Amino acid sequence: MLLSAADHRLPLSDGNSIPIIGLGTFSEPQATYNGLCATSVKIAIDAGYRHIDGAYLYKNEHEVGEAIREKIAEGKVRREDVFYCGKLWATNLDPEMVRPALERTLKVLKLDYVNLYIIEIPMAFKPGDEAYPRDENGKWLYHKTNLCATWEALEACKDAGLVKSLGVSNFNRRQLELILNKPGLKHKPVSNQVECHPYFTQPKLLKFCQQHDIVIIAYSPLGTARNPTWVNTSSPPLLEDALLNSLGKKYKKTAAQIALRFNIQRGVVVIPKSFNPARIKENFQIFDFRLTEDEMKDIEALNKNVRYVEMLMWQDHPEYPFNDEY
Ligand code: A2P
Repeated sequence: MLLSAADHRLPLSDGNSIPIIGLGTFSEPQATYNGLCATSVKIAIDAGYRHIDGAYLYKNEHEVGEAIREKIAEGKVRREDVFYCGKLWATNLDPEMVRPALERTLKVLKLDYVNLYIIEIPMAFKPGDEAYPRDENGKWLYHKTNLCATWEALEACKDAGLVKSLGVSNFNRRQLELILNKPGLKHKPVSNQVECHPYFTQPKLLKFCQQHDIVIIAYSPLGTARNPTWVNTSSPPLLEDALLNSLGKKYKKTAAQIALRFNIQRGVVVIPKSFNPARIKENFQIFDFRLTEDEMKDIEALNKNVRYVEMLMWQDHPEYPFNDEY
């Protein structure tokens, strides 16, 4: 696979394609001043990124849309050059809620379509305005989950032209098979967005997805921002890893660039988040070197099979995805 800064798209099973690196845009809202997301997306597009990953849930989707539209108006890119992935949140998995949720995203973005729309987690929560619904005792309010019914509603959105490709996120093998084996399946999931980096390389899920023409999109490819409220910080910081740093010295790259290169070189899409101009640019400079096969194997051997993003608070949900082996 030849990847370059100018041309780094992977084919998707539905005939569309996805740029192999995208800018992640999840940032703690309280720690992010207004306008920082829009500025970062514009810097990313100027640096060569053609893929932005976002969500209505992140509360900054309007800034992503503003930045993309500004770059189109400037003539820097055309709409068809930019790939945007949005996400359907857990409180909107009832079939009749799917299209309104996507339409709300399009209204916020002020765009006519998104390139990819994915089920963010396979667990349904009580529908309503509260994104994280709990009762008065703090107990999570779950909801009956029917992933196949949600999927059919997504298929209708694709047929209506609101989204080009459909995917999922945080799905395990059983949940992927539920969709793949659904009677009357019209559109296959093209991608599964999951945690993936040198300390959590996902060998089995990756193999399964490759066999089914499903692209893995790696979230937290740099090991997250290590916020202890939702990150398992008992797993050590990825970017301090000795091997990643020594390979960085060899190639005059940073540990972050080695971690990203590892994934793209094996066909995994990466969506590193940064709202720092220098690091946004740094993370894109991964097309001018190549790791050897032995180095790829050495990095693969760093796998600890430990997640940073465990979502343990939802472990008692019937569709909690991470109790299965993969
Ligand atoms: P910042 O936005 O200040 O750059 P992940 O994508 O794995 O969730 O990681 C995101 C975290 O890593 C953010 O805290 C981001 O902070 C930081 N980050 C992004 N790029 C780099 C880099 N090249 N080197 C070090 N930290 C980075």
